[in-house]
Amino acid sequence: MTTQDDRPYSPGLQGVVAGETELSLVDGANGRLLYRGYPIGELVAKGTYPKVAELLWTGTWPADAHLACEPLDARVLAGLVDLPNDAHPMDALRTAVSAWGAGHRIDWPPTVEQARKVVALAPSALAAFGRLRQGLEPIRPKPELDLAAGFLYQLNGVVPDEASARALDAYLVVAAEHGFNASTFTARVITSTRSDMASAVSGAVGALKGPLHGGAPSEVVSQLHQIGSPERAEEWIAGAFDRGERLMGFGHRIYRAYDPRAAALRQVAEQMGSIADWLKLAVAVEDVALRMLKERYPDHPVMTNVEYYTAAVLQGIGLPSDLFPATFAVARTVGWTAHILEQAAVDKLIRPDVLYTGPSERSLPTS
Ligand code: CMC
Repeated sequence: MTTQDDRPYSPGLQGVVAGETELSLVDGANGRLLYRGYPIGELVAKGTYPKVAELLWTGTWPADAHLACEPLDARVLAGLVDLPNDAHPMDALRTAVSAWGAGHRIDWPPTVEQARKVVALAPSALAAFGRLRQGLEPIRPKPELDLAAGFLYQLNGVVPDEASARALDAYLVVAAEHGFNASTFTARVITSTRSDMASAVSGAVGALKGPLHGGAPSEVVSQLHQIGSPERAEEWIAGAFDRGERLMGFGHRIYRAYDPRAAALRQVAEQMGSIADWLKLAVAVEDVALRMLKERYPDHPVMTNVEYYTAAVLQGIGLPSDLFPATFAVARTVGWTAHILEQAAVDKLIRPDVLYTGPSERSLPTS
């Protein structure tokens, strides 16, 4: 499609190159994801979320890294206490980041130190909200625990077993960064105005809240509950297609091959004994879904995406499914803040043109 003056126009900015980044390569055709050159599978197998965070922020793979959850200050906590118990957890997270920014007068330019703070605040805020909505007191983080274990400790009040902490850490690594997705682009647009890191992260949380971006994993759970058994998969999926619904956990704007994050998380899920039955159902339904999607879109691959096996891993560590999207946001704070730092260094306002489709110039009615 072109504009009146023959400039190219792509709805949804599909295929448009809107910036440069050194942070990650999302190779949709070949199903590859690299953070600063390192393949995601290797980062999951040999890395940790704190190490990946340092890699993305500073460009260096550290020999070791420790990143503990941050205790919430009184203002942030007060903001969470005031929320209704049935508030959306993403709204709670957005509120906490916003209150933190206002309370600490977070200002331009963004720094790595601010990035560490907001990333360390996010799991504490989500865990505190998770308890407050059940009428429980928030718990102060243990400084010796890394973010994954620290989040589960603050949520459940017990130090998690190593396997659960490791599975969540692997998920955080997989979900940390992913190019110019909608929420990251939002963060960069906000940063490009020389607004502060808290504003950019709050805006990004808002963008991630939508079901087409970050809301899918909890819907994967409800989809699999509705399907119930592999024998019912074909009929259920055909019904969903007839109703014009999308299958959650499938399809991606960039990947035309199997999402490498889904492959990495499937391996993590396979090591979790607690979800063996669930995983069996998920794998069987995936086979049927991929076959039916191929029949429906023969020229346009719609494959499994990260959210499908996210649902299995997060269920396996006992997270309530309505916390899945906000846990995705917690993971992505690393990518957002790394992009915020990168965008600030470019310091160029993002302000595209728009194709005007309204009436031509005319005069107001006389009466
Ligand atoms: N189920 C059924 N049909 C689908 C699906 C799906 N999951 N995904 C795409 N299609 C169809 C789509 O409706 C379109 O059909 P038509 O041409 O008849 O309108 C065709 O496939 C091409 O769509 P597309 O260009 O591949 O999709 P897109 O780039 O516009 O949308 C998407 C990408 C992720 C929004 C979409 O695949 C979707 O809605 N998936 C379900 C929600 C989901 O799992 N979201 C998580 C995405 S991964 C997290 C992240 O990285 O942000």
